[in-house]
Amino acid sequence: MEEREISQAVIGRLPRYFRYLGDLKEAGVERISSQELSELMKVTASQIRQDFNNFGGFGQQGYGYNVDFLHKEIGNILGLNKEHNLIVIGAGNLGQALGNYMNFKNRGFIFKGMFDVNPELWGKEVRGIPIQPMDKVEAFVKENDIDIAVLTIPKTSAVEVAEVLVNNGIKAIWNFAHVDLNVPEGIQVENVHLSDSLMKLSYNLERYSQEQK
Ligand code: NAI
Repeated sequence: MEEREISQAVIGRLPRYFRYLGDLKEAGVERISSQELSELMKVTASQIRQDFNNFGGFGQQGYGYNVDFLHKEIGNILGLNKEHNLIVIGAGNLGQALGNYMNFKNRGFIFKGMFDVNPELWGKEVRGIPIQPMDKVEAFVKENDIDIAVLTIPKTSAVEVAEVLVNNGIKAIWNFAHVDLNVPEGIQVENVHLSDSLMKLSYNLERYSQEQK
């Protein structure tokens, strides 16, 4: 496939295509037209065609899209054809909830370790994974081929912890701490702020109430 720069907006839409196609595949659907996909996903058919054209199309005139093929291709683009080992830093409410969420494994994200500074948590297990002290993290990252760290710690220590992780080989950070991390070029950071989604919901709720008046 031809390599070219793909906008983050398109990349941002791929996981949703991937999910819908996965559901279609599970339901035994073998092919789908962009029109049908458009109705299902409530996005325009031209948006779908434009998005897929970034990767050379995938469709065939008069046939539509082969669901299994498209699902695989989008999975490959998203890097889901490989497994990624990940660790969770911060075994509090959020860290444990993420650790307990089994479904990441189906996407190839393997939960390998969990670390915390609180001695009361050491040795406790989250889905069979023991919580370890932070002084074990450097060796663990190196020995277990860990490439992703999930940061669920307070913002006061996140920058410093991220630096240690990156120096020891972490290549990507899924950052839940409410602070911008200062990482070298080439290290991937995805910031997650659940409240952003809630604020969007609040905006739409407000707008809808205004429209009803
Ligand atoms: P929590 O207080 O239950 O857990 C935080 C854990 O981090 C504690 O177990 C603590 O001992 C540990 N910790 C603190 N400093 C550490 C360090 N330097 N290294 C390793 N472990 C350390 O808090 P909760 O509710 O799990 O939230 C965690 C963080 O995530 C908070 O900063 C919170 O603001 C943030 N958060 C972000 C959300 C988002 O959407 N981005 C949503 C919810 C929480």
